[in-house]
Amino acid sequence: MSSSSFPVDWSHQNGNSRNPEDTLCSVAEVEEFDFSKALDKPRLLNIERQRSCDERSMSELSIGFSPRQLSTKPDNYYRLPDHLDNSFFLLPKSGLNTPRSLILDPHPLIVSEAWEALRRSLVYFRGQPVGTIAALDNSDEKLNYDQVFIRDFVPSALAFLMHGEPDIVKNFILKTLRLQSWEKKIDRFHLAEGVMPASFKVYHDPVRNHETLIADFGESAIGRVAPVDSGFWWIILLRAYTKSTGDSSLAERPECQKGMRLILSLCLSEGFDTFPTLLCADGCCMIDRRMGVYGYPIEIQALFFMALRCALQLLKPDAEGKEFMERIVKRLHALSYHMRSYFWLDLKQLNDVYRFKTEEYSHTAVNKFNVIPDSLPDWVFDFMPHHGGYFVGNVSPARMDFRWFCLGNCIAILSSLATPEQSVAIMDLIESRWEELIGDMPVKVCYPAIESHEWRIVTGCDPKNTRWSYHNGGSWPVLLWLLSAASIKTGRPQIARRALHIAETRLVKDNWPEYYDGTLGRYVGKQARKFQTWSIAGYLVARMMLDDPSHLGIVALEDDKQLKPLLKRSNSWTL
Ligand code: GLC
Repeated sequence: MSSSSFPVDWSHQNGNSRNPEDTLCSVAEVEEFDFSKALDKPRLLNIERQRSCDERSMSELSIGFSPRQLSTKPDNYYRLPDHLDNSFFLLPKSGLNTPRSLILDPHPLIVSEAWEALRRSLVYFRGQPVGTIAALDNSDEKLNYDQVFIRDFVPSALAFLMHGEPDIVKNFILKTLRLQSWEKKIDRFHLAEGVMPASFKVYHDPVRNHETLIADFGESAIGRVAPVDSGFWWIILLRAYTKSTGDSSLAERPECQKGMRLILSLCLSEGFDTFPTLLCADGCCMIDRRMGVYGYPIEIQALFFMALRCALQLLKPDAEGKEFMERIVKRLHALSYHMRSYFWLDLKQLNDVYRFKTEEYSHTAVNKFNVIPDSLPDWVFDFMPHHGGYFVGNVSPARMDFRWFCLGNCIAILSSLATPEQSVAIMDLIESRWEELIGDMPVKVCYPAIESHEWRIVTGCDPKNTRWSYHNGGSWPVLLWLLSAASIKTGRPQIARRALHIAETRLVKDNWPEYYDGTLGRYVGKQARKFQTWSIAGYLVARMMLDDPSHLGIVALEDDKQLKPLLKRSNSWTL
C-alpha cells in the first residue's frame, strides 16, 4: 500500500457548502492521494443529515466526508455527482503510472461491444426493462439461463447505475419485491415470507397476449435450495440505487421498508444458534451446487454483514424500523467479532492452529471449535504467504474449510467486515499468489480445487464440478468487478488494472464465457455458456470503476469505528 502522504487540507471542510466546483480534482492531486488515509480520516459529525442514505454508524451518528477544495484543470479531473460523498474518488500514487488512462478508456471497442451485448440481454415486462437474462447463448441446452437471476443482475445494475441509467434498476427492485410476496411452496412445505427468488422469467401467453412473471424460489432449482444470497443482494442493490441517484424515495416506500424487514426477520430470527453467523445449506449462493459450502460459508456471512450495514442506512427510524435497527447493531457487533477472530487466517494464525491442543473444555478453551490439526490440508502451508491472510471458507465444530473464496473475501473488504489491516492482507495474498488466483483469467471462484476421493465425497461425484472446473476452482470473469472494487478501496488499483488487462483481450475473442477451466484458467469452461451477461457486466463495472473511482461509493461501505474496540481475544488468537 502506498504510504505517500497527501497534501489535502481537510480543515476547511464544511458539509453544508456543496459547491459543485468543490468536487473537482486534478489528476496531479489524484496522484498524491493515499486512499487508506481517507478511510481512516476522522470523520465530521452531523453533516448531510438530510439524505436518508447517508452513512449511519452503529452509534447512529451521521458521519461522512465533505467536499474539498480542488483546483480545476480543464479536462483532466473527475466530477463527482452531487449526491456522492467524496471519500472514494481518488487514487494513490502507486496506481497511476499513466494518469490519462484513467480518463480516456484505452479499450473503447471492447467497451462498446460489451455495452451492446449488455443491452441485448435486457428483459422487458409489459414494455419496461426489468432485468437482464443470465446468458444469451444460443446453444440448445438452456437450462435456466434464460432467466433473470437476482445475483447475476447485480453487476448489470451497477453498470447501468454508473452509466446514469437507474430506471431499469428501480423496475427490477420493485418487480422482485412483488415476487417476494408470493406464496412459496415446495411439495407441501411453505417457504418463509421474506425469501427472495433466485430468478424469474417473463412468460408470454400467446392466446391471451398477456405477460406474467414466473419466479423460482428454489422449488425448480437443481438441488431445491432457496437462495440465501438473493435477499442480501436485493438490500445491497437498494442501497446502491439510493447512493448512486440520491433518490431516497424508493427505499422509503412502505413496501420497500416492509421487504427489507421481511428479509431481516429471516436472518435475525432466534433459534438454537450459538454463533452469530448464518447456518446454510450447500448451494444457497453463487456456488449453487453441492460443493461442501454448507454450514457457515464465507460468501453468505460477508453478504449478510454487508446487507445488515446497508439496511441500517436504509431503514426508517419509525417504531418498526427502530426495533430492527437495534437488532442489527447487536448482530453486527457479534458477527464482526466472530468473523475477524475465527475465520481469519494468516501465517501466525495458521501456526497457532497447527499447534492447537484438542479436546479442550470450558470457557478457557483456546481451540474453541475443536479443530484437529491433522485436518489441516498440505496445500495451505505452501499457499500462505509471509505477508497476507484471508477469511477461510467455513468454520464450524471440528471443521475449518481452508479454501480461499473470492466473493466472500472481496465483499469482506467492501463492507469493512475486514479491518483495514485485514483488507491489506487479503490484497497482499492475492498479489503473492497471483498465478494461482488470477493466472491467465481472473478470478478463481475458490482455491484450490478438490480432487479424487475428496471430490467424490464432497460434491457427490458432480460431473460439472470436476477439479479446476466451474465452481471447483474455475475462473469466473464476473468476479473482476469485485476484485477491482476491493483493490480500489484498499488503494491498490494497479491490481485491478493488471487483472483487467489479462481478461480484456480474451473475453471478447471467446464471446464472454461464463467461466474458464484449468489451474491457470487457460481454457474456456467445459460447459460454460457464451455471452454470459454477468461476465459482460462484471467487466464493464470493473472498467468504469477504474476509469472513475468515484463509482466505488456505490458498492463500498466505510470502516465503522464502532466495531473496532470490540476486537479483543485470547493471546493465541491475536491478529
Ligand atoms: C450458475 C451459477 C450461479 C448463477 C447461474 C446463472 O448456476 O452457479 O451462480 O447465478 O449460473 O448465471
